[in-house]
Amino acid sequence: MFPIQRPRRLRRGEILRRMVRETELSPSDLINPLFICPGKGVRDPIQAMPGCCRFSVDEAVAEAQEVLSLGVPAVILFGIPPSKDAEGGGAWAEDGIVQQAVRALKQRVPGLFVITDVCLCEYTDHGHCGKIEKGEVLNDPTLALLARTAVSHARSGSDMVAPSDMMDGRVAAIRSALDEQGFQQTPILSYAVKYASAFYGPFREAAGSAPQFGDRKAYQMDPANAREALREAALDVEEGADLILVKPAMPCLDIIHRVRESIQVPVAAYQVSGEYTMIQAAAERGWIDANKIILESLLAIRRAGADLILTYFAKQAARLIRAD
Ligand code: PBG
Repeated sequence: MFPIQRPRRLRRGEILRRMVRETELSPSDLINPLFICPGKGVRDPIQAMPGCCRFSVDEAVAEAQEVLSLGVPAVILFGIPPSKDAEGGGAWAEDGIVQQAVRALKQRVPGLFVITDVCLCEYTDHGHCGKIEKGEVLNDPTLALLARTAVSHARSGSDMVAPSDMMDGRVAAIRSALDEQGFQQTPILSYAVKYASAFYGPFREAAGSAPQFGDRKAYQMDPANAREALREAALDVEEGADLILVKPAMPCLDIIHRVRESIQVPVAAYQVSGEYTMIQAAAERGWIDANKIILESLLAIRRAGADLILTYFAKQAARLIRAD
């Protein structure tokens, strides 16, 4: 068709490029993860995630105020409890670390949307996401513990619960427990498509949640599988998930796209700790331009089909978007 067709015509100059741009990235698409630890006045830098800290509840309030002031509407909380046990009792404790943080954030940062990660691996001494018997993670007995955790989050004021354990049937179990306790309006963001990925390495250091034996391959998905992702997503929607999450993000752009096409609920993607750390490490060495790569990576995740992105770059990205 050349020379009649010249795609470059639409690329001449910033004004026209902006006019024909297909994908937008806005601070309101972003969700900022926060690690909550015991203590007061604590901002404990995470070795494997340069630029990220564990925050005590009071410092989390200050951090969340800054997050919100940059136009990022939501945080997702991960707890680092003072002690762990075999069942993960800290996950549903009335005065648990996440429960305290939710109460403080809802009270002191009005307008902030608070999501809570529902899992046991940060609270169990063996580091697995469920109850263990003879070296195996049991599915059905774990469901009650997850449901109890979700209800306890909702009771402390959580705006949305996000189960990340990958047990079968947990969305239905959590939905019915929430409904029974009067939390019919609390949405569930299900980590429906969560791969057994090496990209979670730095997170496990941050949360002290590495499995003490074996790995998570008997519950998280095989990175080789794509059809299975669609099956997981469909099942969770049937069970009552209000939003579906795909994780990790950049290694799974194809999956984000296919999940987006196959279901009707909003899709979120998690740009996980390893993705964050790779960009930070290369930037520290001066090998890449971090600001440009952050925006390009988030835009690519949006273009693939994610409506929302969980990212440790939320504040930095929001600043860049606003400066643009
Ligand atoms: C808990 C959980 C994990 C992440 C989010 N929720 C860790 C894991 O499954 O080991 C990883 C997030 C990240 O790497 O940034 N189950």
